[in-house]
Amino acid sequence: MWIAILSSREVKRGRPYRVQRMGEDMVFWRDGDGKIMALRNYCPHRQALLSQGKVVNGLIQCPYHGFEFDGAGNVVHVPAMGRSQKPPSYLKAKSYTLYEQYGIVWMWYGPGQPEAPPKFFDDLKDLEAYAEYWETWNISFLRAVENQLMDFTYPSYTITR
Ligand code: FES
Repeated sequence: MWIAILSSREVKRGRPYRVQRMGEDMVFWRDGDGKIMALRNYCPHRQALLSQGKVVNGLIQCPYHGFEFDGAGNVVHVPAMGRSQKPPSYLKAKSYTLYEQYGIVWMWYGPGQPEAPPKFFDDLKDLEAYAEYWETWNISFLRAVENQLMDFTYPSYTITR
């Protein structure tokens, strides 16, 4: 299932962005082409927080020993090994399948890989008839979803203008 997890504007070029979604601690960044990437926020080498590292040439660089990872979680460079040696393939960070369009970032949540991009309201996308609203609630996301569903399905709920 696709889940909208971020606004595109939250993830800027050139710096990591830490987010917790669906019980996962994640780091987002943009590669050299501006494509959004995400890994589990813990380096597979010694568990340092990748979000405290840097974006270098479109890769995320761990702040501890400087390993560099691509968006698939592969180690691309290990400074102590130099550029001539191939990094070990067993050190792989968990990656996430993302889709970005209309200013929204979706994450694939569940088994396997998606067969199609997320559905969007085709009649709305050109009208910009949707908006974002930000508010932090210090509760479980399940309580927040439940609360909002109740507000919009309660029989006496009416919208006045
Ligand atoms: S902890 Fe990340 S490179 Fe060592």
